[in-house]
Amino acid sequence: MTSQEIRQQFLDFFKSKEHLIVPSAPIVLKDDPTLMFSNSGMTQFKDYFLGYKEPKSSRIADTQKCLRVSGKHNDLDDVGRDTYHHTMFEMLGNWSFGDYFKKEAITWAWELLTEVYKIPKENLYVTIFEGDEKENLDRDTEAYDLWKQFISEDRIINGNKKDNFWEMGASGPCGPCSEIHVDLRTPEEKAKVSGLELVNNDHPQVVEIWNLVFMQFNRKADGSLENLPAKHIDTGMGFERLCMALQKKESNYDTDVFTPLIAKVEELSGKKYTGILTDEKDIAIRVVVDHIRAVSFAIADGQLPSNGGAGYVIRRILRRGISYAYRFLDRKEPFLFELVAVLQDQMGAFFPELQKQGTLVTEVIKSEEESFLKTIENGLIRVEKLIQQTISNGQKVLPSEEVFELYDTYGFPDDLTRIIAEEKGLTIDEAGFEAEMAKQKQRSKKDSAAKVYDWVVLEEKPETFVGYDVLETETYITRYRKIENKDGEFYQIVLSNSPFYPEGGGQVGDKGVLENATESFDVLETKKENGLIISLINGLPKDAGAIFYAKVNVADRKNSQANHSATHLLHEALREVLGTHVEQKGSYVGPDYLRFDFSHFSKMTEEELALVEEKVNAKIKENLALQEFRNIPIQEALDKGAMALFGEKYGDNVRMIQFGTSKELCGGTHVKTTSEIGHFKLTSESSTAAGIRRIEAISGEKSEEYFKNLETQVSEISQLLKSKDLIKSIEKLLEENSALKSEIDSFKKEKAKGEIQNWKNEFEEKNGKKLLVKKTSLDAGSVKDIVFQLKKETPNSVIIIISDANEKPMVTVGVSEDLEASYHAGNIVKELAKEIQGGGGGNPGFATAGGKNLAGIENAFQKALAI
Ligand code: ALA
Repeated sequence: MTSQEIRQQFLDFFKSKEHLIVPSAPIVLKDDPTLMFSNSGMTQFKDYFLGYKEPKSSRIADTQKCLRVSGKHNDLDDVGRDTYHHTMFEMLGNWSFGDYFKKEAITWAWELLTEVYKIPKENLYVTIFEGDEKENLDRDTEAYDLWKQFISEDRIINGNKKDNFWEMGASGPCGPCSEIHVDLRTPEEKAKVSGLELVNNDHPQVVEIWNLVFMQFNRKADGSLENLPAKHIDTGMGFERLCMALQKKESNYDTDVFTPLIAKVEELSGKKYTGILTDEKDIAIRVVVDHIRAVSFAIADGQLPSNGGAGYVIRRILRRGISYAYRFLDRKEPFLFELVAVLQDQMGAFFPELQKQGTLVTEVIKSEEESFLKTIENGLIRVEKLIQQTISNGQKVLPSEEVFELYDTYGFPDDLTRIIAEEKGLTIDEAGFEAEMAKQKQRSKKDSAAKVYDWVVLEEKPETFVGYDVLETETYITRYRKIENKDGEFYQIVLSNSPFYPEGGGQVGDKGVLENATESFDVLETKKENGLIISLINGLPKDAGAIFYAKVNVADRKNSQANHSATHLLHEALREVLGTHVEQKGSYVGPDYLRFDFSHFSKMTEEELALVEEKVNAKIKENLALQEFRNIPIQEALDKGAMALFGEKYGDNVRMIQFGTSKELCGGTHVKTTSEIGHFKLTSESSTAAGIRRIEAISGEKSEEYFKNLETQVSEISQLLKSKDLIKSIEKLLEENSALKSEIDSFKKEKAKGEIQNWKNEFEEKNGKKLLVKKTSLDAGSVKDIVFQLKKETPNSVIIIISDANEKPMVTVGVSEDLEASYHAGNIVKELAKEIQGGGGGNPGFATAGGKNLAGIENAFQKALAI
């Protein structure tokens, strides 16, 4: 059975049990500050469990793209070293939201595994929750009794709270779980050791494949458990492991999920995969084929590699892949990008985002590879230098600070430094390196550390966002929690109804005030977390339940929404001018300016930029009225022609924003008519990554300010030049300047001529040859002229000039033609340039090198004298 068939059978099976089959949610999470990536099937259904949203069906099944590379679940360092850990994996799952419970979940899981997939019953084990005295939780006899109808009792294993009680987070729905494990060993091995002893023991052939979670409790903020009014089912089955079991392989990497990728790596690298766990080349191949999946899916879902947050996690995964390929597959040129096409062939039919975003994914990976390989090459030179220094100091251990600097500042992988050092018989100061790492972690922790207390819930009420319609309202606090960070003590609050827009869709969150007759607090920021709108305030009211007036900072909001509406017009104009391949890849919409990242493969020309600006301003002048469609079915919005963004998770009902022909799915706030945007001005166009351009722009007041500033500058320049015709005056200045320059040049030449005579008298006789070593502050051009003249007029001579004109150290060497066979100016320069940290070169007769270290001039001079 192919992996595609295995996936389809799972979905068909649950469809036949009346489940709604939904697509995988994007792998990258946008509006959840607690999590960067989907790390289990239930992530996209969190709001259903928490009761913040109604599920679209009480039975759902899907396959979910997951990534476990940061936070609580982090498997990155294991990947490649074993047969069954991955960064990206698929989790097959079925859910009941207050519908069926343990009986159906267990019966169907067994039916699917043994009757559809036909896994021999004697290969399966199950675990159930053994109870926990401290929590006052009983053993899950209900699950036990259900299982024993299908499987002999000696194969049902009790598990403790750690393995068999699943909790989504510190609070919220949770419950006992039951895991199904499969024993894939040969009969001979089974005869030696019973599978019972190997369950949950990290054995590569005795692995958990499915976890059935029975959500029946709610963990309250005070740590106690209460029964949920409705009980839910949440299951997760590891797709790649299931494929290993069904395709009777010993490793996930031997299934057809990975073999086409491995074949391509073999073809590109000329290395043969032998599946050995400890073989470095095999580890590297597993790393590469694993990581390319994680990175490709993340980019397709809109997460580009970058220097911070989720983007940095993706960059690190990709760099880990490149570095393994560099070291163990001898790949010194980009090549991971060539695997994207294989992945598309294999998974594109089920995950269309891979097809649609294929070109972008390929381009981005290729350019990341190019730049990281350059980093490696530069790092190698630094490592080499460090090794030489260490050896010449008579040491055998590379100093930790320098190794850490290579890693931290230059992005050079520390394991590479280690290997190169070992090749030269050196080691690195491991303890020191660890200490540097710890220090840095401490530093970044200090910057971001915040102590977050439990919520105090005053009223269990989902809040209402009223900020589309009003900017101030009467309201009260329904829950709050204390936050302590480096700036002091703050409170996060949730309001019964909130006018504050929570950061999202690129638009910054609202600020404002919360006040009543007795107290007033500043609202410092507003964000969304797990469906709640959370505002940060600088204190806690004496009476937390009192009625307050919440007021949005109107000026900021107005400027932000002008920029947001302008962003929609910009998006449409870009598609008109450049083509429909333009898609939004990120945005920032604040009161100060807007930034818009989009897919496009070349730099925009001046004409294109001018046209885009013109089109946006034309729409502004048309004074188009906002047409807002709140809460319409997503299909209806798409049929109307609304643009949806890749990697964005939309609900069944969406909000559509229309200005004339521009239609977008959007949750942000907007102007009532486009003329409120005022004037739109592009301020920059640049590139953020291969295939991604970035536009920055301003509107409204900021645009006015911009033009006012320009005007002031122009008038100041005009005063300086004492002229109204600026162009003419500047042209005149430039002419004068160039005339003065040539005058100076000829003065310099005159001076140099004078010097030649003096310098000629300074030649010293050494071993029958003439040597001139001299320091000067003359400029490079003059030095060059003099050296050429001297060596022409002085046979049998070597001339070395060390200069410091304009604070730039420089070495210039000339060798007369008759000595070129015995002395090489280029080699002499190279040797001396070391002293001034310089680089350069030349031919046997003439060479120069500029450097960075002015203080090294004296050393260079002494060295030259010794030649
Ligand atoms: N949510 C459960 C898990 O991730 C199924 O294991």
